Amino acid sequence: MGDAMSAEFGTVAEWTAEVAVDMGEDFYVPAGCRGSGSPAALDWLMNGLALSAGDTLLDCGAGVGGPSAYAAEHRSAAPMLVEPEAGACRAARTLFGYPVVQGSATALPFADQSVDAAWSLGVMCTMSDHLTLLTELRRVVRSPGRIGLLVFLAREPISDDEQPEGNHFPTTGSLVGHVDAAGLRVEDWISTADLPAIPDPWQNSLDEVSSALEQRYGGHRLWQVAEEQSGRMGRLLDEGKISGALVSLRHG
Ligand SMILES: C[S@@+](CC[C@H](N)C(=O)[O-])C[C@H]1O[C@@H](n2cnc3c(N)ncnc32)[C@H](O)[C@@H]1O
Repeated sequence: MGDAMSAEFGTVAEWTAEVAVDMGEDFYVPAGCRGSGSPAALDWLMNGLALSAGDTLLDCGAGVGGPSAYAAEHRSAAPMLVEPEAGACRAARTLFGYPVVQGSATALPFADQSVDAAWSLGVMCTMSDHLTLLTELRRVVRSPGRIGLLVFLAREPISDDEQPEGNHFPTTGSLVGHVDAAGLRVEDWISTADLPAIPDPWQNSLDEVSSALEQRYGGHRLWQVAEEQSGRMGRLLDEGKISGALVSLRHG
């Protein structure tokens, strides 16, 4: 992973956990979801996965682990996290204590058909090998193949200096093609623009965590690098050049 991505997904992930610990347990889940998931998005995905008590849930590219903790809290799922960045692995262990393996979506450290369900949130566009991500998810999830994705899709060509360093956005066409090639099928799909807004208390917690991070680390070069990355993402979303989608998949 390049320096900018490591700053965003490793260093800042670890700082986020430190700040959340200081702020108290009420902040853990929203802080751990800074990477992507809103409650409405996670609820939609959990319904799509038909997630129920005791189901093992592989969180592929788990970041700080907030979405996993949300699934455990709301559905009593049993999360297992895979994440390449050591700092994010430490952050997830500190905040939530679920099993975390340092590894990549391109070679998931799990046996064939060993988990009930899997999701991968905001991960596809941070890697280039989209087909292998889907093939690996298909391999490790047992029938009927309950898989959920949060993906950011390019709606028009995006130049290198516009996009976060190291990102590779799929298009709707490339995603659908790769889903099919991986032996999966789309069961349901929604644009994140059609989801309910983030509730105020959750947004307030996110804002408080972000300002605590800014206050503590704002002068640090790696914070600035990470902010430039997320700023580029925000601009692409604001300009409509990318859009978010939630996708519920099954074995084909
Ligand atoms: C935008 S963050 C999302 C984190 C988390 N899924 C969430 O929703 O809060 C993208 C994550 O993908 C991870 N990632 C990047 N390349 C990966 C790969 N090859 N395999 C698995 N995860 C990867 C990053 O380290 C980062 O934690």
